[in-house]
Amino acid sequence: MVGLIQKLLFDFIEEAAGPEKLLEVKRLAGVPAEKVFRMDEVYEDEEWQRLFRATCEVLGVTQEQAEEAYAEFFYKDGMKRWPMWFSMSKTAREFLQRQPKIHNGFATGVRDQKASQAINDKFDLEEVEHGIVMHYRSPNQLCGLYTALARLIINHYGDEASIEETKCLKQGDSECEIHIRWAA
Ligand code: HEM
Repeated sequence: MVGLIQKLLFDFIEEAAGPEKLLEVKRLAGVPAEKVFRMDEVYEDEEWQRLFRATCEVLGVTQEQAEEAYAEFFYKDGMKRWPMWFSMSKTAREFLQRQPKIHNGFATGVRDQKASQAINDKFDLEEVEHGIVMHYRSPNQLCGLYTALARLIINHYGDEASIEETKCLKQGDSECEIHIRWAA
């Protein structure tokens, strides 16, 4: 997982619960308190999973609740950090169509080819008449983060669209299949 995500998770925990709780999360996840996550470096997915599990435990929330709250934080930060991605897309559909490319852009900056491919492989976008179908495959099982961010993007542009997940890694399916359907 690209370090941006861990860095923002730490900012999120600190803002929501304070520095002591952040230290507790790191301790529980077995991550050294002083370890710095660089925004442009790739770190083990398993380490991220330990951090995210520890976050849920320390904050006393479910994975879905943590994904929702983190998505909100990520979205607000993203609007300030990458205004270009928002101004480039004129609609939510355009933004969500561009999302895998945004992610692949991070993969391009990654020197290790296997790690770069792993980022590319997570999102497979299908464009259909009514909207988009996202095929998401990742050991991190963050489909809740995907749907929460998609909902925020839809609201950001004032669109009307429904989101439905018809397959889920967490239910034993081989991928999460997320349908986003725009009102005609
Ligand atoms: C400016 C906009 C965005 C930026 C810069 C961005 C950047 C990133 C980066 C760098 C990662 C880590 C990738 C990895 O290491 O595998 C990530 C993960 C993720 N992003 Fe985004 N993202 C953006 C918008 C979105 C949107 C709109 C969605 C959903 C609709 C989304 C869904 C996700 C999900 C689900 C993950 C977790 C992937 C996994 O590890 O399984 N992102 N994002």
